[in-house]
Amino acid sequence: MAKVYLTRRIPDKALTLLQKENIEFEFNPKDEPPSEASLKREITNVDGLICLLTEKITPGIIEAGKKLRVIANIAVGFDNIDVRKATEKGIYVTNTPGVLTETTADLAWSLLMATARRISEAERYVRAGKWKIQWNLMFMTGQDIYGKTLGILGLGRIGQAVARRSKGFNMRILYYDENRTPELESELEAEYADMETVLRESDFITVHVPLTEKTRNFIGEKQLNLMKKTAILVNTSRGPVVDEDALYEALKEGKIAGAGLDVFKIEPIQMSNPLLTLDNIVLLPHIGSASAETRTKMAVIAVENAIATLKGKVPPNLANPEVLKVRPPTLR
Ligand code: GLV
Repeated sequence: MAKVYLTRRIPDKALTLLQKENIEFEFNPKDEPPSEASLKREITNVDGLICLLTEKITPGIIEAGKKLRVIANIAVGFDNIDVRKATEKGIYVTNTPGVLTETTADLAWSLLMATARRISEAERYVRAGKWKIQWNLMFMTGQDIYGKTLGILGLGRIGQAVARRSKGFNMRILYYDENRTPELESELEAEYADMETVLRESDFITVHVPLTEKTRNFIGEKQLNLMKKTAILVNTSRGPVVDEDALYEALKEGKIAGAGLDVFKIEPIQMSNPLLTLDNIVLLPHIGSASAETRTKMAVIAVENAIATLKGKVPPNLANPEVLKVRPPTLR
């Protein structure tokens, strides 16, 4: 009987699928990531690992999984997994793309709007009992969104969903992506531009690239200097894609107007992070895909990916297809 280890309890709807397939499972009962030592211990004898993005699946952990055939990440991003090592060992790595696209696009828009209209700052003001004058002409004035230019960096699934939502706001859409997709340009009424033009001309810039060695510090001092003084940056991808020190300086010096971040270089954010001292930033605890429906579906998809692999099939969301050459999907 195949056996799977889950690094957290997941909804019963997903666990039931394992039961139906007679796959034995065990999960970390704590609501926090297991330590590296305990993860190494737990996976020595299992065929599959179902984990979250909080688990750093290092070469050492992969080596410890002597029988491991699949690592099913409950996330679209899989930069937490040493994919090269997994591939080398013939281990399938899977993710959960698609299902969280709309939910994450909603959050990118929530951040964009909250930053433009100073929602968090205004709410803090009310709760702190500072609202003493009923209405003042220039009080808490933010920025309009309607009719402005939206710059999308990375026009993948989520970037496209963000673009679709901009229709009601009558925006000009600029995008930059490593790969230009002319078909999408007409559908989304989006203009392709080089990165510099997107940075220079956009009022709102939203980042939707995966974290890779190429995209680390994708937005740094140079890029922030190109942006308009009135521009707002939104990041719902991965923290290290933005150079936080450069962003802090830019926000503090008024080189850009604001930022909305759901992701950080170090998560959870350290209380010593200077970004916390700024008012022109909205900070969220990595909740891009956090609707109950979507998170449940993500767990189900991860389980389905694990089951498919353990049944000797190519899983629907194989993130390292090159592994098929190392280990074809045959039954053991
Ligand atoms: C969340 O950040 C994900 O990658 O799914």
